[in-house]
Amino acid sequence: MKSVKIGLLGLGTVGGGTATVLLRNRDEISRRIGCSLEVVHAAAHGIGQQTILDPAKCKLTEDGFEVVNNPEVDIVVELIGGYTIARELVLKAIENGKHVVTANKALIALHGNEIFKAANKQGVIVAYEAAVAGGIPIIKAVREGLAANRIEWIAGIINGTGNFILTEMKEKSRDFSDVLKEAQELGYAEADPTFDVEGIDAAHKLTILASLAFGIDLQFEKTFTEGISKITQEDVTYAEELGYRIKHLGIARKTAKGIEMRVHPTLIPEKRLIANVNGVMNAVLVKADAVGPTLYYGAGAGAEPTASAVVADLVDVARAMDTDKQSRVALLGFQPESISDIPVLDHDEFETAYYLRMLADDRPGVLADITRIFADQEISIEAVIQKEPQENQTCVPLILLTSVVVEKNMNAAIKQIESLDVIKGQVTRIRMEHLG
Ligand code: HSE
Repeated sequence: MKSVKIGLLGLGTVGGGTATVLLRNRDEISRRIGCSLEVVHAAAHGIGQQTILDPAKCKLTEDGFEVVNNPEVDIVVELIGGYTIARELVLKAIENGKHVVTANKALIALHGNEIFKAANKQGVIVAYEAAVAGGIPIIKAVREGLAANRIEWIAGIINGTGNFILTEMKEKSRDFSDVLKEAQELGYAEADPTFDVEGIDAAHKLTILASLAFGIDLQFEKTFTEGISKITQEDVTYAEELGYRIKHLGIARKTAKGIEMRVHPTLIPEKRLIANVNGVMNAVLVKADAVGPTLYYGAGAGAEPTASAVVADLVDVARAMDTDKQSRVALLGFQPESISDIPVLDHDEFETAYYLRMLADDRPGVLADITRIFADQEISIEAVIQKEPQENQTCVPLILLTSVVVEKNMNAAIKQIESLDVIKGQVTRIRMEHLG
């Protein structure tokens, strides 16, 4: 049986999971593809301590360049993360004519245009299923399964750590930092956990999804990014009372004006399936013109779920590597010469509904002042709730839900509301989507 030779870069959580799955399911994988996948060279820091790969069959090194320069290697699997050395190694592997599989969302979101250009020039494949939503085959679904459709929007819970934190806050009223620590211990969180809690990891993934959905260049710098670090227990509770859940969503939407690319905490009606995706699980809802809405659910992080996507890419590459280059799936799902320059919208142009919370003096005319400002900005109010004043306080929390509004109008309204004497402190705003 023919053997496809793999060079593995990184033996951390995902690298270790990938080596384990490849060894454990070796026979089943060979039955599927008619050849065997053999890890022949691996690089990682402290690789001498590893216990998964057999040194009699696989060369071990601390230097990744030895792997990408090894003429025996057909496919380089990059699982070291980051985008400095990882970028150099991937570009070198491509230059050496090797196919690449990576789980590195930051690398693809920031340097994907350069990497894909180099790969197309060399006629090699770069596969990155594990870069978005861990084990969910969402890239294959959007790029191939939905290829008949015009995609209208995508909304996804695409950061497992963030979802785990929000779930624990809602269900067990647990402390933010305590839950984050647990996510780190379970191997879900990024090396720098601010990437998870400040939305950067989700923005990397959303950038990739938007390019796959709309056939545009990767434009991470234009993705609006807001994390969950400012979400309070109070907002989680009020949202629940109103029939909503707060989820951190990545949203890519094509409008008449351009493309919205945004990640932020979002109120969604609790009756939506995606509102009930809890813990470290991810889910991506795709609305397309022919098929309508489809929902993809599964583990978004963790060693073996992510390895599942990495190994599926290896299987794809092993099947396609000897085929005619023209008949392979384009790396972003659209032919490189057909990539569109449709503009990505500034956040001022986003259109979304809002949840607002503010502290106001409890006296006549306050609501009238607020509603006048909204009327001036053409903002329609859907619901208003006044809560009891908190202990020893004269101010009352006011919660408002609005209908869909252009973000610049909301910014202007919030500025005016915050300048009212009867309003104390800042207005808390959380965007709201009905996903209908
Ligand atoms: N830190 C990421 C998450 C890992 O929590 O979703 C998977 O990309």
